[in-house]
Amino acid sequence: MKAKIKKIKLFSIIIFLATVLFLLFFISTKYRKPVSTKSKAKEHSDKLILGFSQIGSESAWRTRNTQSIFEAAAENDIQIIFDDAQQKQENQLKAIRSFIVYQVDVIAFVPIVEDGWDNVLTEAKEAGIPVILVDRQINADPSLYAGFLGEDGLEEGRRAARFLLNKCKYRKGTVSIYEMSGTENSSVVRDRARGFREVIATDPKFQIIHSEDGDFLRSRGKEIGEKLIENSRKISSNGRFKSDGLYFENQKIDAVYSHNDSMTLGLLDSIENYGINTKDTIIISVDAEQKSIDALKDGKLNCVVECNPNLGPMLMHLVKQIADGNKIPRVTYNSETYFTEDDDFSTYTPRGY
Ligand code: AHR
Repeated sequence: MKAKIKKIKLFSIIIFLATVLFLLFFISTKYRKPVSTKSKAKEHSDKLILGFSQIGSESAWRTRNTQSIFEAAAENDIQIIFDDAQQKQENQLKAIRSFIVYQVDVIAFVPIVEDGWDNVLTEAKEAGIPVILVDRQINADPSLYAGFLGEDGLEEGRRAARFLLNKCKYRKGTVSIYEMSGTENSSVVRDRARGFREVIATDPKFQIIHSEDGDFLRSRGKEIGEKLIENSRKISSNGRFKSDGLYFENQKIDAVYSHNDSMTLGLLDSIENYGINTKDTIIISVDAEQKSIDALKDGKLNCVVECNPNLGPMLMHLVKQIADGNKIPRVTYNSETYFTEDDDFSTYTPRGY
C-alpha cells in the first residue's frame, strides 16, 4: 500500500514539474522580443550594417543616388549590404528577405512601385528590423516603416507647371501639353503628375493632350520622339514628316512636360536626328543632370526642375538615429530648386551627375 502511495506522489510531482516546464517554455516563446539583441551580422562586425536595395541604374540621377549613399556610408563607417534590383520588384522583395535573414541593423530601399510591400515589411517588423523608404513612397500601413527620405514630387510637379503658366501668361488659346511620364505605379510619377495638374487646373487653356509612359529611360524618350515625328507624316500635305515642331495625332504640341532628364535627352536625340525645329516648343524636364543643364544653356530646354539625388548624408544620419533607439521623422524632404532659361548661367555650379 505504502509503495502505491509513494508511486502516486512521485507521479504527481513529475506531472507538476512537467506542467511548470511547459508553462515556462510557453511564456518565454510567446512573449519573447522578436528582435534578436545580438544579430548574426554583428557577430562579425562592430559597424552598423545597412541593407540597401536600389532599383537599378536607369538614369544618371539613379547612379548618382547610389554613389551618394555609398560615399556617405563610408564617411560614417557604416557597412552596406547592397542589392541592385535591375528594375524588378520581385528582386527587391528577395533582397529585403535576405537582409532579414542576415539580421542587418537597418533596411533602406527605393520602392520601384507603390503597392505590394505589406508582407515583406511585416516580416521585417517581426524580425525587429526598422525600414527606411528612400526616394519613393508606398501604399502600406505606416507602422510598417520608420520613415521616408526623398524628394517632394508634388512640389516638383507644381514647379514645372508654375513655370509653364508664367511662360504662357499672355498667350491666347489652348496650350497643348504632351506628358512623358516615368515608371507606371511609382509614387514619384503619381506626385509629379498630380502637382502639375493641380497648378494647370487653375487655367482651362492648359490641356494635357496625351500622357505616355517612358519608364524614365532615354531609349524610351527617343522612341516616343521618333513616333511623334513619324506620325506627323499623316497630317502633312506631301507625306513627309513636319519639321516645324512636334505633333500628336493632328495637333501641334505647344509644351512637353517630361518627368525626367533621361527621357528628355532621348527626345532631344530624336529631334536632332530628324532636324525638327522646336524653338517654339516649351520643354520642361525634371532631375537637373549636367547634360540637361547644358541643354538648357543651349536653348534646347526651357526649364529644369531639380530632383536632388544626394540622399546619402541624410540617410546615414537617420540610420544612426534609429540604431540609437530614436524615432525619426515620418517624412524628410531633401532641399531642391529649379533652373530656367531666364537664369544667369554664370552662377551655376557643376551638378556632379
Ligand atoms: O525616383 C526618382 C526618379 O527616378 C528620377 O527622377 C529619375 O531620373 C529616376 O530614375
